Amino acid sequence: MRAVVHERYGGPEVLRVVDVPTPRPAAGQVLVRVEATSVNLSDWEGLTGSPAYARLAGLRAPRRPTLGSDIAGTVEAVGAGVTRFAPGDEVYGDNLELMGGFAEYAVAPEKALAAKPAGLTSAEASTIPQAGAIALQGTALAADGRRVLVNGAGGGTGTFAIQLAKRVGAHVTGVDNEHKLAFMRSLGADDVVDYRREDFTRGREPYDLILDLVAHRSVFAYRRALAPGGTYRCVGGSVRSMLRVLTVGSLAGRLTGRSLGVLMVRQGPASFGTLADLCVAGDVEIRIDRVVGLDEVPEALARVGEGRALGKVVVAPR
Ligand SMILES: NC(=O)c1ccc[n+]([C@@H]2O[C@H](COP(=O)([O-])OP(=O)(O)OC[C@H]3O[C@@H](n4cnc5c(N)ncnc54)[C@H](OP(=O)(O)O)[C@@H]3O)[C@@H](O)[C@H]2O)c1
Repeated sequence: MRAVVHERYGGPEVLRVVDVPTPRPAAGQVLVRVEATSVNLSDWEGLTGSPAYARLAGLRAPRRPTLGSDIAGTVEAVGAGVTRFAPGDEVYGDNLELMGGFAEYAVAPEKALAAKPAGLTSAEASTIPQAGAIALQGTALAADGRRVLVNGAGGGTGTFAIQLAKRVGAHVTGVDNEHKLAFMRSLGADDVVDYRREDFTRGREPYDLILDLVAHRSVFAYRRALAPGGTYRCVGGSVRSMLRVLTVGSLAGRLTGRSLGVLMVRQGPASFGTLADLCVAGDVEIRIDRVVGLDEVPEALARVGEGRALGKVVVAPR
């Protein structure tokens, strides 16, 4: 089968499209004929090996040569002990543990997969698992009249997070680069901030909830941006910022009646199924920037990693 591989960390130039043996499902695993895999920032981080947490699975060289975790496709074969799926079933899920979605076939643990809703195409379904799980959990405290800010809101997760917070009546501010301001407004953001021109932690009415997808500032800046009783949660960004939030942040927050912490994202179908239902019902919109083939994966990863994509970039290996 054809697969996109990388044997060392680096830019898009280290990726190659090659023929490799089709994987076989071990016990508890499912072999999926991949129809679509959406690109996440975590794929770019896995390619470049940066931030440092991206090397947890391989310090010097990538442990999984083929990236791509948000897969959607058709079950081709199942390993021993698999009970929920059979060949021919349409499935989707976040295969963060084994990756391998930028290929014609991928193996995934049965527990990572769910039946694909009939109302979604494979490309649409592939946009949901990882970004959806983060967006649902990251906006769980959004409520009517609360001021919510999403930092990095023009990306895959932010696209869902803005809409989820707006649905419950929150006032939503989206922060991202200048090319994404109109895009964030089109998703319902009440206010938008270009992070290269303005520091959202200064001179603004404070926020009740901040979901930070790209934490780079100091704990004290985040605390300053929070209203009393407010909550700040980050899921990605620099290791230094995240460690500080975990340590100094939780203490500094508690002392001033605010909560600062890292969002420990629960994964698996139970974590993204509700968003798929909302998408099928038309209550939340899926935005796809473009669909590309395996040969265009290097450019697709760069497009996401360099913040140029308006919506999800999806790879269709066939
Ligand atoms: N905790 C977990 O379990 C878990 C699991 C998976 C993923 N994640 C994390 O979740 C995060 C979100 O992923 P995603 O796929 O939604 O990312 P994405 O689609 O790439 O969106 C991130 C957006 O943030 C912007 N950005 C970068 N630096 C910024 C800054 N300093 N201020 C404001 N905006 C900035 C980017 O644009 P520019 O690049 O142009 O600035 C981009 O538009 C990633 O950090 C990823 O590592 C966490």
